[in-house]
Amino acid sequence: MTSPSSEPASPPAMSTSKITFSHRIPKTEVLSINPSDIKFELSADPSVHPYEDPTFTTSPSSQTGKAILLAADRLRSSDVPVAFPTETVYGLGADATRDEPVRNIFTIKGRPADNPLIVHIGSVKQARELLRPRNAAPTDQFEIPAIYKPLIDKFWPGPLTILLPLPQNSKLSPYVYCTQTTVGVRMPAHPVALALALASNVPIAAPSANKSGLPSPTTAKHVAVDLYKRVELILDGGGCEVGLESTVVDGLSNPPAILRPGGVSLEQIRECEGWEGVVVHREDGGGNSGGGANGAASGAAPRAPGMKYKHYSPTCGVRLYLPNTDQPIVEVLKSTAFGSDSRVVRLGVLRTRQWKELDDSQVEWLRERNVELVEDSLGTSGEEISRKLFGALRRMDDEGVVVVHIEGIEEDMEGLAVMNRLKKAASVVIRPRDI
Ligand code: TXA
Ligand code: MG
Repeated sequence: MTSPSSEPASPPAMSTSKITFSHRIPKTEVLSINPSDIKFELSADPSVHPYEDPTFTTSPSSQTGKAILLAADRLRSSDVPVAFPTETVYGLGADATRDEPVRNIFTIKGRPADNPLIVHIGSVKQARELLRPRNAAPTDQFEIPAIYKPLIDKFWPGPLTILLPLPQNSKLSPYVYCTQTTVGVRMPAHPVALALALASNVPIAAPSANKSGLPSPTTAKHVAVDLYKRVELILDGGGCEVGLESTVVDGLSNPPAILRPGGVSLEQIRECEGWEGVVVHREDGGGNSGGGANGAASGAAPRAPGMKYKHYSPTCGVRLYLPNTDQPIVEVLKSTAFGSDSRVVRLGVLRTRQWKELDDSQVEWLRERNVELVEDSLGTSGEEISRKLFGALRRMDDEGVVVVHIEGIEEDMEGLAVMNRLKKAASVVIRPRDI
């Protein structure tokens, strides 16, 4: 067996400036897809992963079948990326082996050029192919590093991205991995994303399909708002089940690390063999990443380049209250509505586990002072809060809110990823002792 990690690819020289969008597309088409129309045939051989080499079927005359074939064809031949649903968030996909469509992803999103993309595959076999250098003999075999086996067995397909070593002479466009010597790879669980990877038979480079910096899209409508006339095709497979992005793990470092918390929790990863000592990588080069009571934080600089950028933020101000901080009273809310004495200002409140809905007299008290409230509950379970979070942040902007007050949650299970996103979105973080 050839070991790809012994010959790391040399990183290409890249500028870190933002590319600004320079072309517009006449029309954006949104095609509805019914994920349950897609049927997969998996391997029954217990010695291999069920998704070693799956096949899928849809009725070719159905809207779903036609849309998948059209999108797969665009991925193979067009230079304009295609937006599609995954179980985490919507992705903006392009053939990861071709420079032009991958470069267009950066242009369309306004994404910093040093932020690498995750490659989506539809089978374990496709993942292994990413380890194969261009010039390798067809008979050469390449194996995914053994540290990942328990994770792949348990969490693929699903919201987990693993870093694989890049072979020298990789088939991937260097715009996918930017200055890294690894590539992030994920097998999504959403039937549409899986079917696209299998039908196109190309690895699909796909970041979240939002304008860079905004919350990731969890519906096709969010994508259409951000990327209208910037993409030709959006596949609409309904709302995303998980709602937050995948967990990015690095098993090539020692100890293995979580570079971005996400849909698979630290606790779930820690249960896997070889991952008991996993560290949560800090992201800002200066502070603890918020591994919480359960998460060890390592001491080095951020390693998922994307984590250093401001992210997930609505345009309005975000005031994040850490758990055990009292719910802000109306006078505190009012004090954040700058200038509200002479004009009506909207404030948002997003509740989770402890805060109570304001009663009529409190709402009235604020209204008399020119403050209108946009209130919502994100739910109480970690799963529900994850699923609703990005949509709720986007709603605040849609409703013209100037500042939103958000009740944070404990950083265990789904809470680690939820609070990671909220801390990045926050302009102010309020701790229990601040009140
Ligand atoms: O759930 C997800 O992961 C979604 C869906 C579409 O699959 N994708 C997504 O991609 O969130 P994006 O580009 O928005 O975030 C990818 C993150 C970034 O923080 C990036 O820096 C990191 O993964 N990343 C990608 N490749 C990497 C690499 N080779 N080394 C370190 N970090 C990497
Ligand atoms: Mg993103």
